[in-house]
Amino acid sequence: MSPSSSRRYHITTFGCQMNKADSERMAGVLEEMGYQWAERPDDANVILYNTCTIRDNAEQKVYSYLGRQAKRKHHEPDLTLIVAGCVAQQEGEALLHRVPELDLVMGPQHANRLRELLEQVLDGNQVVATDPIHIVEDITKPRRDSTVTAWVNVIYGCNERCTYCVVPNVRGVEQSRTPEAIRADIEVLGQQGFKEVTLLGQNIDAYGRDLPGATAEGRHQHTLTDLLYFVHDVPGIERLRFATSHPRYFTERLIRACAELPKVCEHFHIPFQSGDNAVLKAMGRGYTQERYRRIIEMVRAYMPDASISADAIVGFPGETEAQFEQTLELVADLEFDLINTAAYSPRPGTPAALWENQLSDEVKQDRLQRLNHLVGQMASARSQRYLGRTEEILVEEVNHKNPTQVMGRTRGNRLTFFAGEIETLRGQLVPVKITEVRPFSLTGEPLVLCPA
Ligand code: SAH
Ligand code: SF4
Ligand code: F3S
Repeated sequence: MSPSSSRRYHITTFGCQMNKADSERMAGVLEEMGYQWAERPDDANVILYNTCTIRDNAEQKVYSYLGRQAKRKHHEPDLTLIVAGCVAQQEGEALLHRVPELDLVMGPQHANRLRELLEQVLDGNQVVATDPIHIVEDITKPRRDSTVTAWVNVIYGCNERCTYCVVPNVRGVEQSRTPEAIRADIEVLGQQGFKEVTLLGQNIDAYGRDLPGATAEGRHQHTLTDLLYFVHDVPGIERLRFATSHPRYFTERLIRACAELPKVCEHFHIPFQSGDNAVLKAMGRGYTQERYRRIIEMVRAYMPDASISADAIVGFPGETEAQFEQTLELVADLEFDLINTAAYSPRPGTPAALWENQLSDEVKQDRLQRLNHLVGQMASARSQRYLGRTEEILVEEVNHKNPTQVMGRTRGNRLTFFAGEIETLRGQLVPVKITEVRPFSLTGEPLVLCPA
């Protein structure tokens, strides 16, 4: 059965960049099948939720969205309801019991199979696709949100076993794409006029360890460092980024490559999670806070102005006040540009969720507030260094809050606004003198007059 021309779809995406990248590919599949994007979910007859289950509140948000559309299905039986992503993988069949109106439940490894799965649905089946598979290379053209910056997956899954984390359960084992497939994607992006590419992986430093091949000296030849050298000269692409880095695998060789390769931006996202060694050990992170500090020092020795962002968890089971203060100390010492903070949330199927030394919500919330306060202060201090400086801004979009301005980012990933016309500036690299700083964004004046 093929969809009629009136078929319209809407995708709501929760969670991380991995999900955003998957959504863009799934949107590409739907458009190739003849579906058109509907701005409002209520105008769509295919609704896809690409879901996240990293914390309980992320999961609950999905159920409340889903509940609304499930009701709609009672008077619009033609509506197709799809749950993709990490909640789909975690819950599988159980989701159908909870929301019988669902047509398709599909885990993240099945994103590239959307066409085939949807065809089964259109033939009248209720489908669950959550078995682990080898991820097939996608051949469709993703429908990307931006025409300037793009994500390219380089490794799927995660082989770590952090005791708090659902990702290995829902994303499966590491699967690296070949350097050739990655480069081919980036070449197409360069031809299409994209200027910036972010290489994506949950644990991107693990890239390549599942690929065959070793050099004459016996060193594995497919590392993230090798990949950066392999793709950095793709014509048209001006900036390269990568995320997320795991401190355990961050090497000096990688840092040197970043310093040496002009297109690789001086911005690193390296979560530390906790500043206390006993907590890090209980989390199963495989490094100490001393090692983490050495990595940051090494990054700054090669690139003194590098921006560093991170993730941190407060209120991990058993975390004492003194251990939490170690996290505060690490943050105070290391000058981060941005930290994503979260209160620990027990997750199904993870070891730490079963431990008896859980902390109360009051303690977790109190610590979260104290950490956030410090993070705000640090970010604001870090922003000061930009004042009066000229930064290269890659223009992405209009500033939706002030349409006389455009929005872009510094190489260090700071959001920056300046006066200008989006139609002439989109995708341009513009030198901008920074005149105003806020904790997480900057405002400036362009130093060149752009051709009208
Ligand atoms: N692969 C990345 C992180 C991916 S998950 C890494 O290893 O650093 C994104 C972030 O969510 C994590 O860095 C962590 O800070 C947070 N997170 C993961 N599980 C969590 C949980 N159970 N409770 C609270 N935060 C969690
Ligand atoms: Fe989760 Fe740890 Fe894997 Fe990151 S490295 S995705 S925190 S298990
Ligand atoms: Fe969430 Fe899945 Fe990403 S759980 S953070 S969407 S890998």
